[in-house]
Amino acid sequence: MYLSVIGSGYVGTTIAVCFAELGHDVVNVDIDQETVETLNGGEAPIHEDGLADLVAEHAGPNGTGRLRATTDYEAILETEATFLCLPTPQRDDGSIDLSIMRAGAASLGETLAAKDDRHTVIVKSTVIPRSTTDTIAPTVADAAGKTIGADLGVGMNPEFLREGSAVRDFLNPDKVVLGADDEQTRDVMAAVFEPLVERAGNPAVVETDTKTAEMIKYANNGFLATKISLINDIGNVCKEFGIDAYEVADAIGLDDRIGEQFLRSGLGWGGSCFPKDTNAIIAAAKAEGYDPTMLEAAVEVNEHQPKRLLELLDAHVDVAGKRVAVLGLAFKPGTDDVRNSRAVPVIERLAARGAEIVAYDPVAMENMRALDPDADIAYADSAADALDRANACVVVTDWDAFATLDEEFERMAEQVVVDGRRVVEPRRGMTYEGLTW
Ligand code: UGA
Repeated sequence: MYLSVIGSGYVGTTIAVCFAELGHDVVNVDIDQETVETLNGGEAPIHEDGLADLVAEHAGPNGTGRLRATTDYEAILETEATFLCLPTPQRDDGSIDLSIMRAGAASLGETLAAKDDRHTVIVKSTVIPRSTTDTIAPTVADAAGKTIGADLGVGMNPEFLREGSAVRDFLNPDKVVLGADDEQTRDVMAAVFEPLVERAGNPAVVETDTKTAEMIKYANNGFLATKISLINDIGNVCKEFGIDAYEVADAIGLDDRIGEQFLRSGLGWGGSCFPKDTNAIIAAAKAEGYDPTMLEAAVEVNEHQPKRLLELLDAHVDVAGKRVAVLGLAFKPGTDDVRNSRAVPVIERLAARGAEIVAYDPVAMENMRALDPDADIAYADSAADALDRANACVVVTDWDAFATLDEEFERMAEQVVVDGRRVVEPRRGMTYEGLTW
């Protein structure tokens, strides 16, 4: 099939490249000229494991030609279906901001006005239930002069890939959710995903309506975020009793009904999805007149965890005027993304206490500098440099490299280490007791 993908963020770029890998012809449309040129040069515009090789294989002068990028919406006219992969950020009150989606849908509709054949639009971005039917579909239809269900099909296909393992996750899904309100749209979506379903060994294909597909994504992220907050709550209780929460998590994870994943307690969740999506679904539920108590509690526990890390630190050292090493800035290992990283509230609190902050992250230091250029942070060349002469250290991201710093910790001026992720086992952790203290 010939597909168009609007947006070249983590999701847009990944699915465009992967659809080319699956044998479709794909054009990726984005307003950013630089991104478009990068892709057309055969290079990946974002850092994702395995992405660069696939881009080189399918785009650029030496590629199969199955993938190209453009800033010109007209390219969509030749395609059968368009994926909308635009950002859905949160407003100050936590609710979803659909303005970028609306603008993209309007541009898409204006372009589709010149197409006589039926076209299928598939919403990939995470949007609040009913956004596809109430906002996005009518915006495209009005601008295109088309009728939904007749010469315009609009479906919703949530994405479950994770940053850092985007290509692997997309190509090996545990489920493919196809949300459509008419059969023809669902058939087109099924045809788009047929090669993926075949290659991935027949994962579950969930066929449903658009609003249920939208809700499945929020339920998935909300459940995982709540699972982490619950193990953090339990971890905080464990800490009070001097119990290692990781040992407890390993045991309860053996129960199939609980499962072993997403039970790593510590500083809590960050990134571009869990914080935004939990806030958005809470705000949307409240607007409908329901207070989602569990989701609100999950957010509360998450906001509490950085405070707890600082309380632990305070119990051992007064950091005012002291050198504190912050190990890790990315919201999780394997990415340079610092959006909503737990490093931000930790650094804010250290700064408020008058600490001299020296930070190190293997890949995310540039992004942190760009996020807050005025922050009083010294950036170190290595974890060892950050720890040199430090009076205290907080571990924020679970990079593997931080697990083998014993000698560097020994050389610190004062050996106060609080581990927010349980990477440095023999030290003091947030939800476990250290062995050597
Ligand atoms: C998350 C979901 O896992 C994806 O399924 C979803 O597609 C994506 O959001 C999205 O909506 O686009 P992602 O934000 O990339 O993916 O990262 P995760 O690997 O889920 O980690 C999120 C946060 O939870 C990180 O800060 C991580 O450190 C934290 N975490 C994760 C824990 O604190 N403990 C755990 O056991 C697992």
